[in-house]
Amino acid sequence: MEEFGGPYPRPFTRDFDAWSRAVTPARIDELRRDGFTVVDDFLGGGGADGEGDGTDAGSSPSPSNNGDAWALALREEIEWLSSKDGVMRPNRTHFANPKGERFLFAKPGIAEADMHDDSVAALVPELRAFFEAASTAFADAFDPAKDTSPSSDKYAYELSKGHGARTVKLQVNDGTGGCFPTHYDNPGPPSKRALTCILYLNPHWVDGHGGELDLMPFCATPVRVVPKLGRLVAFLSDRVMHRVTPARATRHCLTVWVDGPCVNAPETCGLSLPPSAMADIPGTARCLRMSPSQRVISRWCYPDEYEASLLECMRDAEGGDEMVTSHSVHLAKLRDNPPLRKLVDALRTHRREVEGKQKVIR
Ligand code: FE2
Repeated sequence: MEEFGGPYPRPFTRDFDAWSRAVTPARIDELRRDGFTVVDDFLGGGGADGEGDGTDAGSSPSPSNNGDAWALALREEIEWLSSKDGVMRPNRTHFANPKGERFLFAKPGIAEADMHDDSVAALVPELRAFFEAASTAFADAFDPAKDTSPSSDKYAYELSKGHGARTVKLQVNDGTGGCFPTHYDNPGPPSKRALTCILYLNPHWVDGHGGELDLMPFCATPVRVVPKLGRLVAFLSDRVMHRVTPARATRHCLTVWVDGPCVNAPETCGLSLPPSAMADIPGTARCLRMSPSQRVISRWCYPDEYEASLLECMRDAEGGDEMVTSHSVHLAKLRDNPPLRKLVDALRTHRREVEGKQKVIR
């Protein structure tokens, strides 16, 4: 198959330095303080700082913006790829049942391709250039050392560089309601994913199109991010629970996962709390929010969110029943551990008191 030769919707230049300009020290400060950050016009060097004001600003591309033109070119190549038979494949989810048996289930409405697949990379020059630059440029842009602001509570992370240290996936959601249930991008060893970056490529997103990213920082205010053109959302893969709401319009994005050298170190994965954990639930919640060990109890702290999003995403698809049953078995285990159940009950009460209304970044 010949590689894509254009035309692209608008002329643009590849400006890889723009990525590092877009991720300002203030954005790194947010990432280290909250576990996530949102960067508008990532390809163009960053938009106005600050978060949504609750109005629908729309997402029509600016005619003069190089970042928008570049984003539209990437989208064009993904659309072209998805028109070819057998290139994009259904998204498949790894799933382990309570017996530890592993399965792969296809998710309805979502197709994707991995840029590590040479047969894909050979076809799309702009996506290939993006993929190659991503081997170092994301680790540079999100270097935690950029953040020099003092603060006592900070998420710690490190990022690796090199061909094997990042993955780039293209994704098309066909708008028939495809979504992702509540999960972590890094569920535990042997994954090395440290940072998830999602670049949205949707020039005409409006309220009602869905496909938003719901971030659920542990026992903190949940945040919804709308998937508008040129926006990049970055979050720590092992510490930020999230889901994607059903998409009612075709939705395109690129996901970049950057590995880290210290991710899933044994001493950080297990739940190890001091005897004082019950006496200081706000402090325990704060510690868990900064720690990948929250994954041990997150299903118990967010049981309804897990189940509702599973039912929503799998609908009648193969594997849906098994996933919901597995979730119920997982929750039932809590009954066998009264001290842990007491702690989880206290965290759930605390969560209801502090999380407040979902914030929307438009
Ligand atoms: Fe995810």
